[in-house]
Amino acid sequence: MGIVHTNKLQPGMVLADEVRDVNGRLLLAKGKSIQPPHIRIFKIWGITEVNIFGDIGHKDPGETLVNPDLIEKTREEIKLIFSHNDLDHPAIKEIFRLSVEYRSRNSIELKNNEIGVKRQVSGIRNVNGDLLTRLKKKKISLPEIPSIVAELNEVIANPLSLAEDIANVVNKSPSLTATLLKIVNSGLYGCPSRIDKVSQAVTLIGTKEIYGLALGISVVSIFKLIPKEIINMYDFLRHSIGCGIIARILAAHKNLPQTEQLFVSGLLHDLGRVLLYIYFPEDSLNIFDNCRKSNRLLYQEEKEYLGCDHTHIVKHLMQHWKLPMILESNVFCHHDPSQAQHPVPATIVHLADIMVNGLGMGTSGEMFVPPLDCHAWEDLNLSINCFEIAVKQAVHQFYSLDAIMQD
Ligand SMILES: [Fe+2]
Ligand SMILES: [Fe+2]
Repeated sequence: MGIVHTNKLQPGMVLADEVRDVNGRLLLAKGKSIQPPHIRIFKIWGITEVNIFGDIGHKDPGETLVNPDLIEKTREEIKLIFSHNDLDHPAIKEIFRLSVEYRSRNSIELKNNEIGVKRQVSGIRNVNGDLLTRLKKKKISLPEIPSIVAELNEVIANPLSLAEDIANVVNKSPSLTATLLKIVNSGLYGCPSRIDKVSQAVTLIGTKEIYGLALGISVVSIFKLIPKEIINMYDFLRHSIGCGIIARILAAHKNLPQTEQLFVSGLLHDLGRVLLYIYFPEDSLNIFDNCRKSNRLLYQEEKEYLGCDHTHIVKHLMQHWKLPMILESNVFCHHDPSQAQHPVPATIVHLADIMVNGLGMGTSGEMFVPPLDCHAWEDLNLSINCFEIAVKQAVHQFYSLDAIMQD
């Protein structure tokens, strides 16, 4: 059994996993023999790789043998970062196994010491929960939503809008257009031929997908304002992209219709931390210090220190920006999805965040893998058997998107 790139599929190969498009529609069932029309359909729907039964005759370039001593060392090291989780829980056990494998293969080390260390401790100050009040009273001005997103919101809200109208708004920003076209031509969509125009992308990929991408790309531009003394903004970006990609893939495995919402939710899930790092750098450094001393989770320490955590801050920002309610719910509840108005997508973002922290794809400042909401997991009713393929798909897409977003 193994992953085979769509370009290398041969008629007669047998599927070891069902294949679904980005919207979760079944393209071909597990156990079916692949025929030339299927390969054409996979390419049209942007399927870049599928899981095949039997000896596939080649190994993925990433599938090199890893020294068993390194695997054992990694396993021992990352037990610490999983210390807020029950390693006997089946979902966590599988994520832990995949994290050990991915980290050993990619020589990913713990980043704890690279996250904002205070040069001189000026005494730990507790702002006694006045942060959200200060934000709400607008004594601190929130970053304005990129004007292009506001325009897109209007176009999307109008039922008479055409694909051309979305393209016209996106085309006003050359940098947004360039990034968007690079993404739709990347491994994330695996389109069979090159897309050169936004209008073409809207027709092929869909209005909501393009809106979601444009929203994500525009908001992520704010990440560049993160002070480098706090955290490397590329690490933060990688954490966000990784979470977005994994959430989108899990959504497809769960057969959810709107995978683009999950991508954007993952991309923006820790946006509240961006605001903390930009507007309250001293407090953020104090919070990191406190976490190191107490071994507490970052969001717990935020709550203790600020009276609210990054999810409350981002909720406030998303309301200010008038973003869709579903995005707000997914992002606000990503640490507590049982409480979400829409628990299924919120649980998927929650799970993707756990996976991306375990795998060590970037960091948002958190030293630990956030604890699994076991009730939400039960209710999600997703098989852990899809985790391995989801991680493989995500890694493939992650590297192509990471390079584009860093341009
Ligand atoms: Fe978070
Ligand atoms: Fe996160």
